[in-house]
Amino acid sequence: MEQQLKALREAAIAELARVTDLEEAHDLRVKYLGRKGSLTTVLRGLGGLSPEERPRIGQIVNELRDELEDQINQKAADLKKAELNRKIAAERIDVTLPGRRARLGHRHPVTLTVGRIKSIFMRMGFSVAEGSEVETDYYNFELLNMPPDHPARDMQDSFYITPEILLRTHTSPVQARTMQAAGPNAPVRVIVPGKTYRCDYDATHSPMFHQVEGLVIDKGISFADLKGTLDLFAKEMFGSSVRTRFRPSFFPFTEPSAEVDISCVICGGSGCRVCKGSGWLEILGSGMTHPRVLELSGYDPSQVSGFAFGMGVERIAMLVYGIDDLRLFYENDLRFLAQF
Ligand code: DAH
Repeated sequence: MEQQLKALREAAIAELARVTDLEEAHDLRVKYLGRKGSLTTVLRGLGGLSPEERPRIGQIVNELRDELEDQINQKAADLKKAELNRKIAAERIDVTLPGRRARLGHRHPVTLTVGRIKSIFMRMGFSVAEGSEVETDYYNFELLNMPPDHPARDMQDSFYITPEILLRTHTSPVQARTMQAAGPNAPVRVIVPGKTYRCDYDATHSPMFHQVEGLVIDKGISFADLKGTLDLFAKEMFGSSVRTRFRPSFFPFTEPSAEVDISCVICGGSGCRVCKGSGWLEILGSGMTHPRVLELSGYDPSQVSGFAFGMGVERIAMLVYGIDDLRLFYENDLRFLAQF
């Protein structure tokens, strides 16, 4: 028995010396120490020995098992270390290669456009206000002289939260909020950029979009002020050669109302695909503040008058940058966004 164990030890150690990778080390462990391994088999055979011999041989077997276990572990650890060293050696860093730059983001084209619109009006003495995107029906419609049967109040067009609360469909409610905060008949010269919401989705409409509202109120404000202000804005925004055109229109909160067009930025007015041959592009709605709107927010239309306007930021950005699909603004495709 002792002879047998000695031979087993020598065989195991000789085999271990030939092991070159972790897998072989594992196989060797199974072969000698595993549940059906050689040493385990010997251990099972101890029952056949005489009671005097059993403890002595048992001890030899245990010692041998410990020894083999240690040696295999040692070998496995050595192999692991060698493997790691090999990897490190292979992973040389070439310090002459240029570094990888962190990619910096930048402002979104809609944000850039809002910024330009704001700076043009701020240079004309306007201040900037912001309302909230969740509004009451009262501010969004009623105070703007929009009767209950007005088509814009349709559930199909507006995102209602309750019958009285909705996501604002335009920035116009901030007109009433600004007048009420300023106090009766106090002069107002404000623009209101912000997000607005309507149930719409196609190449020129998105359920969330941006508007910039404007409101000017003071003694003796006339349509000439409206025209002068918006003509200057158009020239600052699209270039000094741009011409403006004021077309009669209708809004419940202005009287008279005008749609403002600019001469086509693509063809200069001769007619092209973008302006559909007309030579003109519509950029905003405007008008003289309706006396009823002044009254509803505590102003006296016999003392003061004003004008208002509202423009869609995405539409302006599309004209400025030559973009033909509004949805591109919200798809977060870097190939698009990186161009601005
Ligand atoms: N609120 C209007 C809209 O969303 C735009 C508008 C038109 C605003 C005329 C005005 C205005 O202040 O005077 O369609």
